[in-house]
Order: sequence, then structure tokens, then C-alpha cells
Amino acid sequence: MHLINQSVPDHDFEDINLQVDFLGKQLEYPIIINALTGGTSQAQRINRVLAHMSAAYGIAMAVGSQTVAFEDPGLRDTFTIVREENPDGVILANVSALSTVEDALNAIDMIRADGLQLHFNIPQELAMTEGDRQFKTMLTNVKEIIEESPVPVIAKEVGFGLAREAVLPLFNAGIRIFDVGGKGGTNFLAIEDQRNGKFGHEIDEWGIPTAVSLAEIHNLDLPIKIIASGGVRTALDGAKSLAMGAELIGMAGQLLRILLHDGAVELDRFMEDFLYRLKAVFLMTGAANPATIQSKPVIILGETAEWLKARGIDPLRWARN
Ligand SMILES: Cc1cc2nc3c(=O)[nH]c(=O)nc-3n(C[C@H](O)[C@H](O)[C@H](O)COP(=O)(O)O)c2cc1C
Repeated sequence: MHLINQSVPDHDFEDINLQVDFLGKQLEYPIIINALTGGTSQAQRINRVLAHMSAAYGIAMAVGSQTVAFEDPGLRDTFTIVREENPDGVILANVSALSTVEDALNAIDMIRADGLQLHFNIPQELAMTEGDRQFKTMLTNVKEIIEESPVPVIAKEVGFGLAREAVLPLFNAGIRIFDVGGKGGTNFLAIEDQRNGKFGHEIDEWGIPTAVSLAEIHNLDLPIKIIASGGVRTALDGAKSLAMGAELIGMAGQLLRILLHDGAVELDRFMEDFLYRLKAVFLMTGAANPATIQSKPVIILGETAEWLKARGIDPLRWARN
């Protein structure tokens, strides 16, 4: 996927404004620090740093799956630290799409969440010896959670990508925000197999690439918000995703890697550079804000274009000729 260079822009760098409204609040940038962790003292330290960064830069943050804190209430602090560090920002709760309504409501309440991520991770569950094996009640379960939830519910894949076959029933169930969680970044099959998972690395390639998943969902033309995530590493990845039709981008593995290997100062530097570069790429396309980049041409070539055509989707749609 390629964006087109605009040599004669209408804007100065300082005109670039990436603010977006999300879940009733304003973000300075259309970015979510995606669900990573909670449940241990190290997780608490990680969540503190990430939440501090989300407050400092005006970006959203999701906590990791909160189920462990229902099993052991002593672990609640490892999640609530996020709300303490970012009292006014957009914070998302996170549980499995298979969770009970009660757990989902408790997760929201625990961190006064602005939204609830329900994660869908079937390949990962199947790779885990101790993973879930019962999925057919999932959709009914999601409906029940939506009916009871005081905040918007987000359907989120974790690196295998959402296809229209999943989005349509979830939309009919009431979901209006989808995090594509596509293939290309963190690979939970490789991770589970490293810790003795059941797939022996044979199925590591499974999943829908993030760009394909994003295009496929956008092409449905539903009144929904799309979050692009799964292997978003650079500002250029981010700008392309936003031009393709995502309203926000999510990053997880890369932020954790920088924090654990290089420390909080380097992570802060990474984010500062990322945000500068994101604005720079906007200006280079001639777009001054997230709404206008959605009208800029995106050239889709190669395997992504082939994949889209095979699904009956015209990749020229995004060339906006
Ligand atoms: C260490 C780690 C833990 C994660 N834990 C969760 C989780 O608890 N809940 C969830 O929905 N996603 C979880 N994820 C998935 C991420 O939120 C994200 O969907 C996925 O990693 C793809 O994004 P990435 O390529 O930027 O890492 C986790 C990812 C990592 C790397």
C-alpha cells in the first residue's frame, strides 16, 4: 500500500491537527495503546508507564484481560493503576468475548472504563492445552453483554484479523466499533507454540493481514468505527491505515518491546518521534486532519490487491481516481 506524495500542500506543519473524538472524549492523536497486560507486579509497573504516556500524549489505552482480577481480587491494583495515572483519558476494559455478563460489567466498573474491548482469539485458545474449546454460544453471549453494558462495546481480534463473516453478525448483534487485530505483528500461535502449544508451529501463518481486514471491513460501508491494529509499527503504517478508512490505530507488541528492552525514556522518545512522523506523513499527503486523509489516494498493489480481488473487492476503490 502506498500513499501519494503531495509536493504543493495547502498547509504548514503546525496546521496538522490529529485530534479525534472517541467514546465521548477528545484524543490528541487517533491512537490506542492496545491491550497488553495486568495481573502481576511487573504488569502493574508496565501499566503505570503506559497509562502515564497515554495521559501525557492524549491517546487512548486498553488494559490487558481482566479475568485474573476476578479470580484474585488482590490483583485489581495492577489494572486500576491505569485509571489512577490517567484519570480523565479514554481507558478501555478488556475481557474475552466468552466472558460472563457479570465479569464484563465488573471489568468496566474496575477502571471506570469508557469502552469495553471483547477479544476474539479462537486460534490462540485452540493452540493452548488449557484453552477454551466451546465457542458456539459466543454470539449470544456478546449480545447479552451489549444489552447490559453501560459503555460501547468493541469487538477486537488479537492478530488473526476480522473478516466480514464475523463483522456482519457482530454488527447485527449491536457492535459499532471493530478493532481488526490483523496478522502482521504479534503472532499468538508462534507464542503459544514457543511455550509448548498444540500446533507445533505448523499453523503460524494463519490469519488475515491487517491491511486486508481493514479494507474488507471498510468496504462493507457500515456506520461503524474501525480501529486498525496488528503490526502497526511505523508512522507510515499508521497514516496508511487512517487513509484506508480506520478512525484510530492500535499498537501493542512494539511498545512493550521498547519498554522492556530499552526502558521508559526510550519508549517516550519513540512515541514523540512517532507522533512527529505521523503529522509529517499527513502533511506529505496534503491532509491536515484524520477526516481529510480519508479522501487521499491509497495505491494497493501486490498480494493485498490480489487478496481483495479474490474477495470481490476492487482495490482501485482506495485510489480515489
Ligand atoms: C504480551 C501481550 C499481551 C496481550 N494481552 C492481550 C489481552 O490480554 N487482551 C487482548 O485483547 N489482547 C492482548 N494482546 C493483543 C494486543 O492487544 C494486540 O491485539 C496484538 O498484539 C496485535 O497488535 P500488535 O501487532 O501491535 O502487537 C496482547 C499482546 C501482547 C504482545
